[in-house]
Amino acid sequence: MQRLVYCKILLATLLNFYGEVGIDCVKVAIRELKQSEVKAASSLLLNVIKGLAAYYTPRDILRNKEDYSPENIERLMRRGGSIFRIATVGGTMAGIAVADLYPSIPSVCWITWIAVKKSYRHKGIGTLLVRSFEIEPARRWDKIQCRVRVGNVISNDMFKKLGYKRIRMLRRKIRMRRVYVWEKPLNR
Ligand SMILES: CC(C)(COP(=O)(O)OP(=O)(O)OC[C@H]1O[C@@H](n2cnc3c(N)ncnc32)[C@H](O)[C@@H]1OP(=O)(O)O)[C@@H](O)C(=O)NCCC(=O)NCCS
Repeated sequence: MQRLVYCKILLATLLNFYGEVGIDCVKVAIRELKQSEVKAASSLLLNVIKGLAAYYTPRDILRNKEDYSPENIERLMRRGGSIFRIATVGGTMAGIAVADLYPSIPSVCWITWIAVKKSYRHKGIGTLLVRSFEIEPARRWDKIQCRVRVGNVISNDMFKKLGYKRIRMLRRKIRMRRVYVWEKPLNR
């Protein structure tokens, strides 16, 4: 049943990408974050990050807290170069994706964060958020990359399932900070 709903969500979203779509009794929308939602987005993201203490050090968590404070998200939105995209379910913010674009490497879109609220996980929302960067009509990028902590099994599985290839592993001094780099070239 869950898979059926999930397939419908995916199909409907691919067809009506920026619109709101109704699936059974649930409404899911993937859209850009609004200024008025910055506080809620920051708190969703930070709550999810706090839940990753198994492979994020307290220092990592603190750094993310600074990077994604409401003030900093607003600043990043004003500056451009970062994309903040959310998934809403029946009007509630259920997930967020952050992607960064660098002028020096315009062909790459870096997915920096995909975070889904615990109660909404494994229903296809993370997939939809990732896919949204792949099907974006006006995209300038030719490939997507994402770094995922080696210990983050679910996220690594998700990228594998979505057709991403593991192109390298970056080793850091601290074992917990080893990351896999996932990449997917996109068709024009
Ligand atoms: C990783 C995350 C974004 C996935 O979002 P989601 O909406 O739950 O993912 P989906 O429902 O689209 O699932 C996609 C795939 O991920 C894997 N997956 C998701 N939840 C899983 C679970 N509880 N157990 C095992 N695999 C799971 C599966 O491979 C799944 O494919 P399937 O549905 O065919 O089994 C979500 O678990 C999350 O927010 N985790 C914490 C934050 C994080 O680790 N972010 C990634 C760092 S960049």
